[in-house]
Amino acid sequence: MTVGSDVTHADLALLAERSVELIDRHQSPSGAYPASPTFSAYQGYAWLRDGAFIAEGMSRMADPAGPSAFHAWCARVVGARGTQVSDLIARTGRGLDVSPADMLPTRFTLDGSNGTDEWWDHQLDGYGTWLWSLNLHVRRHNAEIPGLTAAVRTVTEYLTAFWQVPCYDWWEEHVDQRHVSTLGAIHAGLRAAIALGVLTRPLTEAAEEAIEAIAILVANEGVARLGEVISSSDIRPGETNASTDKRPRGVNPGTATQPGGVDTSSAVGRANSHGAGGGGRSPEENRGWVGGAATVTPGGPGGSHGVGGGGRSPEENGGWVGGEFHLTKWLGVGVVDGSLLACVEPFGLYSVEHPVGVGTVAAVERSLGDGFGVYRYLEDTFYGGGRWVLLAGFLGLNHAAAGRPEEAMAYLRWMAAQANGDGELPEQVSDRLLAPERRDEWIERWGPVASPLLWSHGMYLMLADELGVIA
Ligand code: BGC
Repeated sequence: MTVGSDVTHADLALLAERSVELIDRHQSPSGAYPASPTFSAYQGYAWLRDGAFIAEGMSRMADPAGPSAFHAWCARVVGARGTQVSDLIARTGRGLDVSPADMLPTRFTLDGSNGTDEWWDHQLDGYGTWLWSLNLHVRRHNAEIPGLTAAVRTVTEYLTAFWQVPCYDWWEEHVDQRHVSTLGAIHAGLRAAIALGVLTRPLTEAAEEAIEAIAILVANEGVARLGEVISSSDIRPGETNASTDKRPRGVNPGTATQPGGVDTSSAVGRANSHGAGGGGRSPEENRGWVGGAATVTPGGPGGSHGVGGGGRSPEENGGWVGGEFHLTKWLGVGVVDGSLLACVEPFGLYSVEHPVGVGTVAAVERSLGDGFGVYRYLEDTFYGGGRWVLLAGFLGLNHAAAGRPEEAMAYLRWMAAQANGDGELPEQVSDRLLAPERRDEWIERWGPVASPLLWSHGMYLMLADELGVIA
């Protein structure tokens, strides 16, 4: 498989089969899904975030055994930390501080222990994403997961107590911020916990309160007016800062996306030179990406779906309707991040029809999309900042949910075209880097880019299933 347009339907189906086989083969006897079986820094570890999406991809396939084993592993691992959660809650109740090091881990060894290698621990999104994935799996297959009730209650206690605390984001950066994609994952997870029907009444009420509070907080502080979105092609190699640390590095609030001053015609004109405005097509071909006048009222997201996007109907715009607002990387800034796509589809913090949902998908695609590949964020320097295969999956899912199957299919084809001769998908591809001068330091530190990355395969399965590629 070389280029996306050469990828046939049979190739797509074959890669889906290969993905199932590869994920099954690498699943630990414990039930854990390793993030990448061969990559030095991930070897021997399983992340809740990666695993939850891998499990959802696999749950959509015929055999529920693998994802059931994964969810049982999670229930064991999380259930075993019930006392840690009660202690944390008791400590904060006594007015004592808790630090990131006190919190539940981000990743676990395959046998479910904390592991001894240092990591950017304290990420809340994985716990929400697990609940979201578990609920879908249990409903789809009527699956019995041992330890489910205790584990779901523990995670719900944890998230309702700590959802407002800053933590590392999807990319394990910026521990001092409150990340909108993390809040979206928690929102989805708490809705799922309620839907699972195993919470006590006080826990259900706590979950409902947190869900409402997250929606209000995001609406008030995590939504920006669509402005000048800088595209990936506007960042010239060498302009990013020179830290060798993967930790927080200058996303400059307000520089990449300036709130205010919407001029939709010029916004359309700024689609990047690789044609990312609308997945590699020109603005003309997209027939007028337009912003709409919408108000974002507290409580709008999460519950009230179906607000028309962008003032004009999808028909009038050839299927492309932009919202005037978009979600932001963290509270109080104007920039976007690829992880925000999940807040629309599949987490549904905002629906694909809501102006904020429409605007978020459009802003991410226009700012971070490049020839169907998607960057994480413009300042990314990890392995030189390439395009992430799994983010193409999220963008494809959003197009599919919004009724644009052809665009979604273009993303699936691009994902498939990134597979190597053994049908393995990498974490990122390195052909069009944002910061090429930063690539080698990572190769020296951790070896070549992670491949296969099981999360890339999980996202491929989700999108392939959504598009009916799998028989
Ligand atoms: C990514 C995380 C991911 C982890 C394991 C990290 O480099 O930033 O999002 O969970 O790898 O795949």
